[in-house]
Amino acid sequence: MTPILSVKDLAISFGSNHVLRSINFDLYENEVLGVVGPNGAGKTVMLDILTGVLKNTAGTITFMGQEISKKSIYERVRMGIGRTFQIPKSFEGMTAYENIITGGVYGAGMSEKAAAAQAEEILDIIGMNEHALTFAGKLGLLDRKRLEIGVAMASKPKVILFDEVAGGLTESEIAGVLEIVAKMRKLGYSIIWIEHVIQTMLKGTDRVLCMANGVDVICGEPAMVMSSREVEEVYLGVKKK
Ligand SMILES: Nc1ncnc2c1ncn2[C@@H]1O[C@H](COP(=O)(O)OP(=O)(O)O)[C@@H](O)[C@H]1O
Ligand SMILES: [Mg+2]
Repeated sequence: MTPILSVKDLAISFGSNHVLRSINFDLYENEVLGVVGPNGAGKTVMLDILTGVLKNTAGTITFMGQEISKKSIYERVRMGIGRTFQIPKSFEGMTAYENIITGGVYGAGMSEKAAAAQAEEILDIIGMNEHALTFAGKLGLLDRKRLEIGVAMASKPKVILFDEVAGGLTESEIAGVLEIVAKMRKLGYSIIWIEHVIQTMLKGTDRVLCMANGVDVICGEPAMVMSSREVEEVYLGVKKK
């Protein structure tokens, strides 16, 4: 099977700070790949590189057969790479519905009418029908995270990148996010889901990648990765035999 997204030897440095030294992984179609790593491991930086906000200093990113390292943020969105932000970035003065419409118009180049029809479907998927007309600034954290996912979906991505969508949520709220992810998987999305809290990744992902010290430390089936010596060393800083 050819991966939809393939990252090889990805590196970035900020001056003498070599945040990513060599990150390697593949994402397959309709797969949910969890990415974990301690604070400061470079998870958000990697996501910024994949979306074009930051430029990698070395390595390649192949998306649907094309090397995209030199493409702009906008080109990547139009090619089918969508994202959420660790700190929700929806427009506070617009309703949830309007935010999703805007995502369709600007992210996917849809007419307002088509974007509005799509927004109704998305509101359903993210379970926000009741809050469709609530201003984004008035939403609680879980609904803001849901809306972030909805806005990202509106740009019609093939691959969607989640940056800590479960961060700051309670366990029962996380269950709400997992429901959305399960629906998205059924709809055929491929997802890279970054999260600091590794327990979240046990459910809802197909594989988990752990990164630390600028490299991919281990990648595989979630339960195996979570109980691995490598992850324990990375998170607890202990060496195990
Ligand atoms: N634009 C930037 N310029 C310089 N250093 C940065 C920039 N963005 C992130 N960093 C550095 O990269 C490292 C990784 O940050 P980040 O990706 O936010 O970690 P994570 O998301 O895994 O917690 C940090 O040491 C941070 O200081
Ligand atoms: Mg981060």
